[in-house]
Amino acid sequence: MRIIFIGPPGAGKGTQCKQLVDHLSVPHLSTGDMLREIRGESSSLGKLVASYIDTGRLAPDFLVVRIVEEFLRREQCDSGCMFDGFPRTLLQAQLLGEQLASKNDRISMVLNLDVDEDALVQRLLKRAEIENRADDNAETIQQRLRVYHRQTSPLLDFYAQRGLVERIDGCQSPEAVFQQILDRVRARMELMRNAN
Ligand code: AP5
Repeated sequence: MRIIFIGPPGAGKGTQCKQLVDHLSVPHLSTGDMLREIRGESSSLGKLVASYIDTGRLAPDFLVVRIVEEFLRREQCDSGCMFDGFPRTLLQAQLLGEQLASKNDRISMVLNLDVDEDALVQRLLKRAEIENRADDNAETIQQRLRVYHRQTSPLLDFYAQRGLVERIDGCQSPEAVFQQILDRVRARMELMRNAN
């Protein structure tokens, strides 16, 4: 299964993706985690990445695509992969499609975590108190939400046209959200088995 998680900041992509990765034993690609690692380096690239993350803007496509290509070369993704926070632009989605097609693979499904905006903001402000993430402050959260609606949410139409999108009610408890995800993943696996 090659599953993409799409949702606004704070929707629970990371939380749910980690659980599904444990459940299915497949690699976890989180561009946010990889970019934060680069951000921590005292290099000019680290400073460049910080200038995007800390202001709630997307890192440039060329950089993100490069780190994803490296990941796909390095990791064993033959039996599947969970894509957390990638792709985030139409260009990234098109390039991912090409990468997978070159290996005769394709995306199995897209999980759209839907959470209302007040809840998102409350979750991220609460996380700021605990983890002190540079982009979890009121101003940057609003910018991240604007960027999501402008640049990432159009991907839902892109993948819906391919019959891949499943909406998940992300407002429930993490356990209840995970149960919904498992049900959808099992149903999709069944569909794929019957199609083969
Ligand atoms: P990224 O790290 O991907 O951040 P994000 O999309 O803003 O998402 P978050 O990590 O804030 O939230 P999440 O949906 O993963 O939720 P989580 O499970 O953490 O990206 C950060 C930055 O990197 C971007 O702004 C951009 O600059 C750059 N970047 C990354 N990918 C890129 C790309 N492809 N292209 C270009 N730039 C890129 O949960 C959030 C909180 O809520 C946690 O505290 C959690 O405990 C809590 N929570 C989770 N689920 C629930 C629940 N059901 N009920 C109550 N609380 C919950």
